[in-house]
Amino acid sequence: MTQLEVDPTTVSAPAGLAGLVRSWGADPSADTLHELTRRADEIIPLAFEQGDDAAELEAQRFLYEVHAHRILPPWSPHWRDYEHPTIVDVHRRAGDAWLARDRRAYGADLEVPTTPKGFGEWATEVCEGHASGVTHPLFDFLAEKATFDQLAAFLGQETPFDIHFGDLVALLLPGIHGGQKIELAHNFWDEMGNGAVERTHRRLRLDMMARVGIHGEAYLSDVDGYWVEELRMANMYFQTSSARSLAPQSIGMLQATELVVPGRLERQIEGWRRVGLADQEMVYLLEHVTVDVEHAEGWLNHVIAPLAAERPDMLLEVGIGIMRRLDCALAVCDRAMRELP
Ligand SMILES: [Fe+2]
Ligand SMILES: [Fe+2]
Repeated sequence: MTQLEVDPTTVSAPAGLAGLVRSWGADPSADTLHELTRRADEIIPLAFEQGDDAAELEAQRFLYEVHAHRILPPWSPHWRDYEHPTIVDVHRRAGDAWLARDRRAYGADLEVPTTPKGFGEWATEVCEGHASGVTHPLFDFLAEKATFDQLAAFLGQETPFDIHFGDLVALLLPGIHGGQKIELAHNFWDEMGNGAVERTHRRLRLDMMARVGIHGEAYLSDVDGYWVEELRMANMYFQTSSARSLAPQSIGMLQATELVVPGRLERQIEGWRRVGLADQEMVYLLEHVTVDVEHAEGWLNHVIAPLAAERPDMLLEVGIGIMRRLDCALAVCDRAMRELP
């Protein structure tokens, strides 16, 4: 038996860290608590120090399972109580080990300009020139060749991060004030459909998902159906926008998102039109082609530039956030090109 297989005589819950916490009752037994800790001790170093893909999938599923449920209010039908100290501890350890791995990958060699103007130019150049951008072969495929079902499969896979975007911006709001707060609030208000419930981005996305046959609650009820690369994407935003110490990384990630999304969406829109979707059925995609161009500029000038002026020492972290996000997006594109065609 390999290390990753679960001995059925010692574990009665479904395999995996996420399976273990999902099967907890209101009052987990000492054995259950012990099993979660034991398995975490085994999986975390395998996933984030030894490059074991199966272990990383298990760890990312667990990270996402807890992040996505922990932001729900208790009246949600999907709510689960994931505040038990053992879950909180294991979740924190898994996230920290992952962060340490990424810091080893990016922190040491990354050099970023430390003036507002210089950093802005660097960020724009890095994002626009990155291999995860519109020049990735995935976007030609989606625009020119993908079937309806393949386009839908990609849209479905992108759900764990996309569906949470408004909440992720909201998580960043506390404790930030002045012009930066206004820019965050502006971005958030666009997520809120500028006050029109049917125009909220979440609603627009759910409408499009319903139209193309994607189950609207799968991002909570079918976590195991997502590629590890997509779970990583959602988890890195949850991680950096919920820990205040990582807010600079979150700011970098959001900058990268706003800069790269419009071009990538245009190719998907082309694809959807080609397979017969009407524009009014993909308002979600069309909306982001325009608003994200404004968001990218606003974010750079009103969130990052003031930070750069006040605390240039924070820019390395912003840069790490940008790089983590871009490379994560590239892994998504590569995975999609292996899975979809
Ligand atoms: Fe949005
Ligand atoms: Fe945006």
